[in-house]
Amino acid sequence: KKYLLDLTVVSNERLSDRHILLKLTSPAALPEMIPGQFVEVRIDHSPSTFLRRPISINYVDRSRNELWLLVALVGDGTRTLAGLGSGDVVNCLLPLGNGFTLPSSSDESLLLVGGGVGIAPLLFFGREAKDRGARVSFLLGARTASELLELDLFKNLGNVYVTTEDGSAGERGFVTNHSVLSREVFTRISMCGPTPMMKAVAAYARKTGTACEASLENMMACGLGACLCCVEKTTEGNLRVCQDGPVFDIQKLLW
Ligand code: FES
Repeated sequence: KKYLLDLTVVSNERLSDRHILLKLTSPAALPEMIPGQFVEVRIDHSPSTFLRRPISINYVDRSRNELWLLVALVGDGTRTLAGLGSGDVVNCLLPLGNGFTLPSSSDESLLLVGGGVGIAPLLFFGREAKDRGARVSFLLGARTASELLELDLFKNLGNVYVTTEDGSAGERGFVTNHSVLSREVFTRISMCGPTPMMKAVAAYARKTGTACEASLENMMACGLGACLCCVEKTTEGNLRVCQDGPVFDIQKLLW
């Protein structure tokens, strides 16, 4: 079931030059949400952009009834969100998409891999996986240290391994270069980030026989399965990332 809700801004924090963290709340209890699902946020404070933007769910804080959205400021629409302040109202359609597979037993050792703003859904996923008793490690990649976001929050949930392209934090290079991949064995990898990163991680997963899911970042418009602009070719034919995904087992992807 999907809900159209007017959520109220609790806070709007600048995490870097290009990222904000919006915390939203509602007078009623927020609906159930699964890590990996997303929200279509209506952007209506600018005359040129009366439309919705898909933004993945960064975290759900049940104790405070808060929904967190980590937003990369990439265009007019998202920059409008940067201007929101406490008390402003944001119209959201949620929850959308299928979400990641949650661990079914405490024997699981998950590696959650994120690149850039693709780290966003991994915080919520890490929390839910840890609550189910799974062992959680994060492998997070960014261009530079200042774009590594929410590190302290990730560290509360599990081991955190970091790469930066310029070597300003963690190991230098891309996530697939990180030494943890040659040291440790994981039962499953779940990832979100730029497609080249996910393809490289998928190759590693195939080579090592590790189960692996990817949250795709295809361009979306309607978010509801109608416009077909988000279609991905898969072993099961063309699937809509917004409706059939955004999370897919890599076995289904033609990568
Ligand atoms: Fe319109 Fe997926 S965004 S069908």
